[in-house]
Amino acid sequence: PANNLVNIVEVGPRDGLQNEKGVIPIEVKVELINRLARAGVQNIETGSFVSPKWVPQMGGTSEVIQQMERLPNVHYAVLVPNQKGLDNLFSLLSQSTAKPPLSDEISIFTAATDAFNRANTNTTIAESLARLEPVARAALDRGLRVRGYVSVAIACPYSGQVDYSRVREVAKALADMGCYEISLGDTVGKGTPDKVSEMIEEVKKSVPVEKLAGHFHDTYGTAVANVFAALAGGIRTIDASVGGLGGCPYSPGATGNVATEDVLYALHDSQYKVAGSEFGNGTIDLAKMVDIGWWISEKLGRESVSRAGRAIRAS
Ligand code: HMG
Ligand code: MG
Repeated sequence: PANNLVNIVEVGPRDGLQNEKGVIPIEVKVELINRLARAGVQNIETGSFVSPKWVPQMGGTSEVIQQMERLPNVHYAVLVPNQKGLDNLFSLLSQSTAKPPLSDEISIFTAATDAFNRANTNTTIAESLARLEPVARAALDRGLRVRGYVSVAIACPYSGQVDYSRVREVAKALADMGCYEISLGDTVGKGTPDKVSEMIEEVKKSVPVEKLAGHFHDTYGTAVANVFAALAGGIRTIDASVGGLGGCPYSPGATGNVATEDVLYALHDSQYKVAGSEFGNGTIDLAKMVDIGWWISEKLGRESVSRAGRAIRAS
């Protein structure tokens, strides 16, 4: 392919930590983000401005983004569900004189089924799109990048196999709102490579593949295979979580995202190159990511679940 460069979006600080039971100190979250940026990661989802009643773990995001380092050439995104979340972000940005600004990107999210969307945000797909449209416009007007997520792009924990034409329509609606990228989420992690390929081919009928990203949870152990199916389909942006952290609070039983270390290892010596900053010598430093995966897992009282992370540490 003409473009072999793969972008990694590190979602560990948000998708990874949002599902943890215990309280994670602000300084641990801050150190996680700083370490990721210093390993060469160029896209970091730092937290979310959602209701703390719904997702208590993300309650400290304001403090986190005020305290983290802000390296050049790194995009620091926050997840925002509605106008209130955006207002909270804007008031923080207005109070701060940081250059570059604390955050230069929001992610907005909806789903391919009404049942999941209700569980996650208390609205239907149509209502959520109507709510998000002015949120996206206001963020764009303020010079922020806007990224969109379509959850349950393959299977839904409440309504089963998903109709990929719905994924396509919702992805198109997000693209029309000005999202520079739409991340297709296998929230439950039930996807298989053939299903991922089929879903992507359907979405490509309405949204250019350059605007698509893949977001795979690893519940059934297929996430790395699904990453390669997405790459074969032309996708060049992959969401991943260091140490394989995570899960979704509204997707019972779902495990973490594909581990960033596992994706980096699998892309090693392949036809692809991984994009990264000068801190990772132009890519993302796998050895540093393995250390970060172990460090954060131990902070959470367990071992890293990244297979590459475990093997590299043992060798
Ligand atoms: P609601 O209860 O319908 O909201 O929740 P509401 O507008 O009726 O407000 C209820 C209360 O929440 C009010 O406070 C609001 O002020 C407050 P009260 O008057 O009761 O004291 N509130 C907020 N507070 C802080 N920040 C806000 C905010 N909005 C309202 N932004 C709502 C609707 C969308 C707020 C709620 O459902 C919510 O926060 N949901 C977020 C759920 C979430 O974060 N899920 C995980 C992220 S998505 C994901 O993980 C999937 C992804 O990884 C991709 C994939 O894997 O598929 C992205
Ligand atoms: Mg997710």
